[in-house]
Amino acid sequence: MRLKKAAVFGFLCAIIAEAQAKVYFEETFSDDEWQKRWTVSKHRDDLGVFRVYPGIFHADANASRGLQTSQDAKFYAISSQLTETIDNTDKPLVVQFTVKHEQGIDCGGGYVKLLPPEFDSDKFDGDSKYNIMFGPDICGLKRKIHFILHHENQNKELKKEIGCPVDEYTHLYRLVVQPNQTYSISLDDKLVSEGLLVDDFDLLTPKNIKDPTAVKPEDWVDDATIPDPEDKKPEDWVDGPALIPDPEASKPDDWDDEADGSWEPPQIPNPDYNGPWSPKLISNPDYKGPWEAPLIPNPDYRDDPLLHAFNTAYIGFDLWQVKSGTIFDNILITDDVEYAQEFADKIFFAYRDVELQAKKKYDELVQKVKDEEGENTFDDNDTEEQDDKEAEEAAPPVLKEQEEPDELDELFANYEQQLGIKDEL
Ligand SMILES: *[C@@H]1O[C@H](CO)[C@@H](O)[C@H](O)[C@H]1NC(C)=O
Ligand SMILES: *[C@@H]1O[C@H](CO)[C@@H](O)[C@H](O)[C@H]1NC(C)=O
Ligand SMILES: *[C@@H]1O[C@H](CO)[C@@H](O)[C@H](O)[C@H]1NC(C)=O
Repeated sequence: MRLKKAAVFGFLCAIIAEAQAKVYFEETFSDDEWQKRWTVSKHRDDLGVFRVYPGIFHADANASRGLQTSQDAKFYAISSQLTETIDNTDKPLVVQFTVKHEQGIDCGGGYVKLLPPEFDSDKFDGDSKYNIMFGPDICGLKRKIHFILHHENQNKELKKEIGCPVDEYTHLYRLVVQPNQTYSISLDDKLVSEGLLVDDFDLLTPKNIKDPTAVKPEDWVDDATIPDPEDKKPEDWVDGPALIPDPEASKPDDWDDEADGSWEPPQIPNPDYNGPWSPKLISNPDYKGPWEAPLIPNPDYRDDPLLHAFNTAYIGFDLWQVKSGTIFDNILITDDVEYAQEFADKIFFAYRDVELQAKKKYDELVQKVKDEEGENTFDDNDTEEQDDKEAEEAAPPVLKEQEEPDELDELFANYEQQLGIKDEL
């Protein structure tokens, strides 16, 4: 009986815990209604087009569908409203999403922005005020995960550098901000950074400062080493001269003292010369270390119990991409880390190996076509450069919209059939 009661109690607790998990946003782009949920900004009329696509290679034709940038060298701006405005003062804020740079990205953003209630989705651009910006950003050698907080009208960047992957696979990014003002960032479920907001951002004036009135005491010893008083110059130490007259030299026969002046042998280095002697250094027994002014409480310091707290009502992508093709998916905003973990297991970890296999298969197909094309177009006059160009054309990194069908599209259609997609585009 006791056991049963305990079990029921446990069950109820589980239900309560479950009921407490709040999901403010969950988007997997797996239905055709996504366009109703997302608003493209109108701030300029040449923004890049987002489409929903599972990717050239993918784990699952349905589950892998995500929001993809489809045009090169474009700005992108799109946003969506959360189911309700979040106030994360007293609860965790969890932001999680996947990014797949299947185009082989050279330069482009891959981050989300959490936006306040006064946000205007029609006017969304780089200047729109945001609460938090989070996610990968790649441009040439810059490959980092951004975490930027808005604080007192300034955007403050995390002081730690966190690298991000630049491969063509799907990766999972998660940010957790806790009410005790700690944060954690994980990549593919591996913790890559954590700490206190106040330590890892320049948000507040420092709590303590060096006492400006302090002066170094006269008798402070900050020489770490001194000459050894015991050390004596060895008897046979030769500390001069460095040069001696060459004993081998002799006055030339045709030397005329009157015309040439008196003859002197040339100077050569003294073979016995040891250089100047100095006693060896030993550590100074009186050394106190470098002097530093003592810390005193900073009179300008103000604590901010709301450093971590925002009202968030929208999520958006405001990006620049040179080579397009990035797929964003599985976007989740919740107050429950465990729920985020379950969601990640279901939508990301379940598909990771399948995606690896799909990529392998895709690479094999591309290689096959390259080889066949190589045979067909073989021609003695082809230069190596031409060959390279043909190979590149045979495998562009991304399917472009409104392109004339060509052999390549046939290849992809064929590939998609093999994986069971027919009508995504
Ligand atoms: C994708 O999902 C829809 C709705 O759940 C289903 O009808 C369709 O058959 C699925 N397609 C594939 C390729 O799995
Ligand atoms: C902050 O809160 C989280 C979640 O409750 C906890 O895991 C962590 O240990 C806390 N950290 C500090 C420094 O209090
Ligand atoms: C290859 O080069 C030869 C001689 O340079 C030329 O006669 C021939 O037309 C070229 N073939 C092609 C396909 O360009």
